Amino acid sequence: MKKIFFAAMLSVSIVSACSKRGVTTDPTYVPPFIQPLAAGVTLQGSLPFPFGAAVNVNLLKNNTAYRALVIKEYNSLTPENAMKPATLHPQENTYNWDDADYLVDFARQNNKRVHGHTLVWYKSLPSWIKNYQGNTAAWENLLKTHIQTIVTHFKGKVASWDVVNEAFEDDGTLRNSIWVQKLGPDYIARCFQYAHEADPDAQLFYNDFGHEYGATKRTVILNLINNMKSRGIPINGIGMQMHTRYNMTESNWTAAITTAAQTGLKVHISELDVALNPDNNQNLTLTTALAETQAQKYLFIVKAYNAIPKAQQFGITTWNVSDADTWITGNYNRPDWPLPFDSNYNRKPAYQGILDGVK
Ligand code: XIL
Repeated sequence: MKKIFFAAMLSVSIVSACSKRGVTTDPTYVPPFIQPLAAGVTLQGSLPFPFGAAVNVNLLKNNTAYRALVIKEYNSLTPENAMKPATLHPQENTYNWDDADYLVDFARQNNKRVHGHTLVWYKSLPSWIKNYQGNTAAWENLLKTHIQTIVTHFKGKVASWDVVNEAFEDDGTLRNSIWVQKLGPDYIARCFQYAHEADPDAQLFYNDFGHEYGATKRTVILNLINNMKSRGIPINGIGMQMHTRYNMTESNWTAAITTAAQTGLKVHISELDVALNPDNNQNLTLTTALAETQAQKYLFIVKAYNAIPKAQQFGITTWNVSDADTWITGNYNRPDWPLPFDSNYNRKPAYQGILDGVK
């Protein structure tokens, strides 16, 4: 009886919290997370590899519930935006370290690993880079200085980096980014060399999405990595974003994870979320059935990841913490609930799914 009452109260508070944000939640939705976990159960304490989240520094500073949840559940943090080029390097000779330093200090005080994201990307370009005029040597110097200033600043504090993010198109061609245009396709390898020169102890990752879409994309990524390895370019890991959806064919996830592990490098599921509204239905509501399906999908992914060799398990990071702060709703302009915590920071069935994935 008590349990039902508790669950009903929870569901009322979720509905009101969600409607504040304009997101409809099925009023009959009751978070089925009603079997209390043993006291002290957390993600970081229950999983045999690091478990992290992409963290929003504003929320960390200003939202005490969010901050407490981050402290409690995770042992690895990726800055959602605070270490991107447009944030960190707004002018040629100006670096804006404030938020990134805040995150690094927070992580140190609370014993958490920081994974840096991202040194070089085709997005998050500050306008001074977009408008930069210079010959090839000047562009090369820009790239090298950008990477080395940032990696040096965080040396000994940020143990790993997404060095290059999203260099390929979904059809397997190299993205025609400003970096390819100015410096040619081998800029990627040089980014890794520059980062390694600045901090030889940092673990360096190539990060991308769509390994689970099909063989085309993951093959070009693996070719790039194997090519760099064979040339002695310092690369330590492969980051698979895994912004995925509940109705993805499960064998695609297995294929993505096992192929990545074939590189022999560390494998990071670096930006996991499991969308429940991939068709952008503006009227969709979160039902118990959907939440439970999502739990099975989280379980499947965690289980597949847990099956790769221990030494290659860099960890799993979800992109954001809760359904209240997911980037999906803003980026795709739709209601969605892709994370293991709901908008009130309560554990969803997906949380249990993650725990069950390593049983
Ligand atoms: C997203 C952030 O979550 C948003 O806040 C921002 O507006 C755009 O970038 N792949 C990545 C991440 O590598 O950096 C992106 O993060 C999500 C997709």
